[in-house]
Amino acid sequence: MLSKRIASRLQDLETPFYLYDTELLRQTLESVVNESQRYNYKVHYAIKANYDDRLLSIIREYGLGVDCASGNEIRKAVEAGFDPRTIVYAGVGKRDKELRYAIEQEIMAINCESIEELTVIDALAAEAGRRVDVALRINPDIDPRTNHCIDTGQADSKFGISYEEILDNAARIRSLENLNIVGVHLHIGSQIRELHVFENMCLKVNVIVENLERLGFNFRFVDVGGGLGINYDMPENEPIPNFASLFAIVHNHLHVGDREVHFEFGRSIVGECGELITRVLFNKTTATGRKLLIVDASMTELIRPALYGAYHNIENITADTDRTDKYTVVGTACESTDRFDENVSLRRSKRGDLLSIKSAGAYGMSMASRYNLHDLPRAVYSEDLMK
Ligand code: LLP
Repeated sequence: MLSKRIASRLQDLETPFYLYDTELLRQTLESVVNESQRYNYKVHYAIKANYDDRLLSIIREYGLGVDCASGNEIRKAVEAGFDPRTIVYAGVGKRDKELRYAIEQEIMAINCESIEELTVIDALAAEAGRRVDVALRINPDIDPRTNHCIDTGQADSKFGISYEEILDNAARIRSLENLNIVGVHLHIGSQIRELHVFENMCLKVNVIVENLERLGFNFRFVDVGGGLGINYDMPENEPIPNFASLFAIVHNHLHVGDREVHFEFGRSIVGECGELITRVLFNKTTATGRKLLIVDASMTELIRPALYGAYHNIENITADTDRTDKYTVVGTACESTDRFDENVSLRRSKRGDLLSIKSAGAYGMSMASRYNLHDLPRAVYSEDLMK
């Protein structure tokens, strides 16, 4: 882990901040590119995971496309130099001005999530005098066996259009004159560690694509979304996620002829390359005997533990003893759920020590807020520190 190796250089920096290991990011990108090329799979980066400019410029070097969830994310990707023809845009609630911008940029596809959205895009396309490429985001009703807060592909979810609704409206969809229905899109959830879930997804996609083509659709691509999980428990054991296994599963189970196959990875690209570095402010013990370690970061830098009960491995990287204690690590925000972990064993910690909250590269900085008028977190890059 980077921070531990260079702890003495971090000691005098103002905390809290995100530390990015750009070398690990490069190795991760090399892995995803090499493994995907074996099957000619196309990879997009889900920019919602982290839109940091420096990270984006590295990701762009490796030729990935981008998956966006808002007009501003598309703008960010375009400004970062990504080719609009590699940008896909999903989201249940796209505003008209966002759709107009996506149409104007001629992105690869707008991934539509309702029949009503398809009719609105058709009208906006007519207004712009263009035919617009869209994909149908289908809700495949699969349990991704992940934290319920981040599953997206079950029947009752707000995401995607149910397969039945597409069947019922097939003729109507095909009659929309200003749309090219070029693809099928799915994304069943995030932080998926049980890879057999993707097998089920592929089997469903095979049936969906075959049946819809029989009804006259003609798809150029199938986009199976993101979701590959990372090892939050022991990140050191698995700094680069297992892209090879996922691709092999998809290769063995997805049968969609010579259609392009696309992926949209967020967490698995940037999750492990980021750590949140925070300093111990105070020790205190509650009346019930709980030892609190109060640190200078909070849910405003990293909301995942407070929002989803997500686990991040924490380590004291500057302690001067190997003796440990059990702590509840809490942040500075005025919220009782603002805690990073409970009853966690750390090397005995004192005011001024630095802690690393690991695997924080994805959905950390991008979900930061200014609650309590906290400053937005700063970023420090390994390649600058190594100069
Ligand atoms: N494609 C679509 C359509 C998505 O909605 C997402 C993530 C991705 C791709 C990328 O998924 P990934 O490869 O990162 O699993 N804030 C939550 C995660 C929300 C995920 C939202 N969608 C967290 O902190 O865990």
